[in-house]
Amino acid sequence: MAPQTMASLQYSCTVLAAHSRPSSKPFSAKPSQLATDARRSHRFHVSCNGGTNQNPSAEGRVDRRNLLLGLGGLYGTANLVSDSQAYAAPIEPPEFKNCGVARDVQTNDILDVNCCPPVTDKIIDYKLPPVTNLRIRPAAHRVSKEYIAKFEEAIRRMKALDKDDPTDPRGFMQQANIHCAYCNGAHDQVGFKDLDLQVHNSWLFFPFHRWYLFFYERILGKLIDDPTFSLPYWNWDNPKGMQMPRIFDKTGSPLYNVNRDQTHRPPALIDLSLSNISDDLQVVVNNQSVMYNEMIRSVNSTLDFMGKPYRKGDNPSPGMGSSERGSHVAAHVWVGDPNNKYREDMGNFYSAGRDILFYCHHANVDRMWSIWRTLKTDVPKDITDPDYLNAAFLFYDENKQLVRVKVADCIDHKKMGYDFDKVDIPWLNYRPPKKAAKTKIQNISSGVQKAEDLFPLNLKKITRVLVPKSGKGKADEVLVLENIETDATQYIKFDVFVNDEDDNAKELDKAEYAGTFAQVPHKTKNKKDISNINLRLTELYEDIDIDDDDTVVVTLVPRSNGEDVTIGGIKIIPSPPKSA
Ligand code: C2O
Repeated sequence: MAPQTMASLQYSCTVLAAHSRPSSKPFSAKPSQLATDARRSHRFHVSCNGGTNQNPSAEGRVDRRNLLLGLGGLYGTANLVSDSQAYAAPIEPPEFKNCGVARDVQTNDILDVNCCPPVTDKIIDYKLPPVTNLRIRPAAHRVSKEYIAKFEEAIRRMKALDKDDPTDPRGFMQQANIHCAYCNGAHDQVGFKDLDLQVHNSWLFFPFHRWYLFFYERILGKLIDDPTFSLPYWNWDNPKGMQMPRIFDKTGSPLYNVNRDQTHRPPALIDLSLSNISDDLQVVVNNQSVMYNEMIRSVNSTLDFMGKPYRKGDNPSPGMGSSERGSHVAAHVWVGDPNNKYREDMGNFYSAGRDILFYCHHANVDRMWSIWRTLKTDVPKDITDPDYLNAAFLFYDENKQLVRVKVADCIDHKKMGYDFDKVDIPWLNYRPPKKAAKTKIQNISSGVQKAEDLFPLNLKKITRVLVPKSGKGKADEVLVLENIETDATQYIKFDVFVNDEDDNAKELDKAEYAGTFAQVPHKTKNKKDISNINLRLTELYEDIDIDDDDTVVVTLVPRSNGEDVTIGGIKIIPSPPKSA
């Protein structure tokens, strides 16, 4: 795909290296530990346009936390009882009265939109209503005529509110603007005027969108006086659902939106690998392989899937989980109109909520989180960190009341009163077929250079490299690509294969496919972004029948803008502990 096609779904900031959290028990830590923590905090730095982080060593996390403690009032005195609570730093909900301009997060252009919500003084701590019957969200390609009629009527009424009372927070544009305000820099982090509040590219991704859809759904139900109404999900992970659902493609319907890529209307199939191939069969199997890889095969830790920690005082966008950067981004990019300046509507955060299909897409993203929690893999499924659980957002509910909600209350969607219509999940067993014949390392490694001779590596062409394993044969191991330095303003994608003989980059449904690195363009001070990825190899070894080799050949296949990527290092390590 063309590089500019992803140019508008962006993040305002970028992490240059992962944050390390200061000890949660600093008062009892040894001085040497404190020094280590402080050093770590200072070494890592996130670049953020519009911020004041000119001097990373003066703006590290420890300083911010000390500042917070000094302010005192930001935490109740009761919270100072224990160390860990005193240092608790969940992201707080924004202050609506301080809402500002929205910007395009790549160009920093001020956008021609006021996406600030109505201001109210009264904020209610939200209590989930008791659940009597679960609302069941249907797959969009399987809905009945009655359902379509209800859905259309609900959206018609929501759109009517825009005209009848533009300040009604339940109106269609007001609802769309929630996404803009939380994602394009209109809201600051409370207490940090120089830090945007950003709900993407971190562990807040799933919880924020779950709450957003929860209220959206209840508002629609209220408008048609049907509390059982539930949003449909776009079942793009199942071959039957891989077209844009047809209910959204009828001109004249309130569900229709003209701001979409016209070449992707039905019967085009969504391409979750964004590899721009025309063979439908290959698209379907690639999609299955992408799903299996991002949900199961490459995931070694809870945060690999959920996204990186994002706490009070942190720069936004510390890092996406495998699902967010995979199928989620792909659907946004695939639907947005490449002829629009910012790929509106779905291709840019500020406008995504103007396309009803957004809510249907996110209902499936939400379903992926739900499915992930039920997978019987050895990775813990839930983040237990209080800074995650206590993070909070503000939304208007179906009765126009402003409510404060917490992440902790949205972990189990059944407690929120809904579930998903069950369809089969074909990718669940889409472990690629085992290789028919064992690859002899001697046959594929001749002429292949060692990592130390090739790296740092500029990825302008397909590159094969010999990498030593940490143990012999089928060990539980992780492939680490380190210090991947990219031009942050470019859409970057490359795929990784192990012991592959043919280098057919169009085929992802095979044992040798280890995973994908993808980067959505975003803004940074110096245009450079540095990150690492971990790809788990345990299953892959079994499927390629690794024997007792102590070396593998890794093939790196650039798909988009490889010349803008330099990979600092490559190594294989024993699988780290799978903790949350
Ligand atoms: Cu908030 Cu899919 O974006």
